[in-house]
Amino acid sequence: EKGGYPTFMEKEIEEQPRAVADTLLGRTDAEGNLSLDELRIPEEKLRAVERVTIVACGTAAYAGTVAKYAIEHWTRIPVEVALAHEFRYSDPIVDERTLVVSISQSGETMDTLMAVKHARDLGALTVSVCNTLGSTIPRESDAALYTHAGPEIAVASTKAFLAQIAACYLLGLYLAQLRGGAYAEDPQAVMKELHDVPDKIAEVLRRMDRVKEIARFMADTRAVLFLGRNVGFPVALEGALKLKELAYIHAEGFAAGELKHGPIALIEPGQPVFIVVPGPDTPHELHRKVVSNIQEIRARGARTIVIAQDGDTDVEPYADEVIRVPHTMPLLQPLLTVVPLQVFALHLSTAKGLDVDQPRNLAKSVTVE
Ligand code: M6R
Repeated sequence: EKGGYPTFMEKEIEEQPRAVADTLLGRTDAEGNLSLDELRIPEEKLRAVERVTIVACGTAAYAGTVAKYAIEHWTRIPVEVALAHEFRYSDPIVDERTLVVSISQSGETMDTLMAVKHARDLGALTVSVCNTLGSTIPRESDAALYTHAGPEIAVASTKAFLAQIAACYLLGLYLAQLRGGAYAEDPQAVMKELHDVPDKIAEVLRRMDRVKEIARFMADTRAVLFLGRNVGFPVALEGALKLKELAYIHAEGFAAGELKHGPIALIEPGQPVFIVVPGPDTPHELHRKVVSNIQEIRARGARTIVIAQDGDTDVEPYADEVIRVPHTMPLLQPLLTVVPLQVFALHLSTAKGLDVDQPRNLAKSVTVE
């Protein structure tokens, strides 16, 4: 059932182009407009939404953080991401004009379920982004937007994460389309670009030999840091989480701009740091700013492993390793840049002789609070 792969996780990583393609499938009409009729929420209700709150845990919450940047940019609706287990006890500001989007692979995570129930009690409109048909969270929600990643068996979430991000993009673009007006970006143009992403994920997967080698050399590493900015920030957090759960290595993800506010004190000679570099076409000069972060930590002896877009030569003088991903528009980059981090964690875990599919102390779905 592992389809010839040694582990479920390897199979699921390889299935990612498909998971994203299937999640996008059939969600646009002949003119290229988004049609999410399956939501079965009257359009006027969605048009009236004044704020979005995303509730989720773990990797799903990082998908939600990517979604926050995208949905806010495309719709100008304020989006908040709450860890589901914190949401209920934080006296959340939620009413009928709040769209509460839960994200859950299993659809059975108790923390997330309880957050959804609480949001419903407060009168919010609830949408479940979920990978498991007929599971509890979509049943308890007003509407469901299913990811079509297929069953995910490995405890560490990979293909579900990419599918969750893709589904959230669809939701954001759909809200933008419904609200009309001047778009920051034309939803149809974004959709076109999004449809090219699965092939680009496949391309990233074809380039993973060096990442696997780096992972093998690093089997004795005690700590790894991950830096990213904007949508690269949740990618950094996800890279760190993968490494914790799979390789039991202390790992931290930071927003690159935070470095000088504390974390740079951690940098000592030989400290491995992954840096997720925004594409050179990212607004607000974020690319240049992250490149200068790489320079700063390199000057303090860090071993810099840089994830950069094809053709980005600016990173080269400061990178001990460069892992290349194809070009896509800045907000869509997480679908490409997270893949090397997943492969790295998997191969480091394997190099340490650990159980990749079933890490210690963890369960695939956390059905207790
Ligand atoms: O099934 P869910 O998406 O609700 O699960 C949420 C988290 O428990 C899950 O993403 C967890 O963080 C994974 N083990 C991460 O790899």
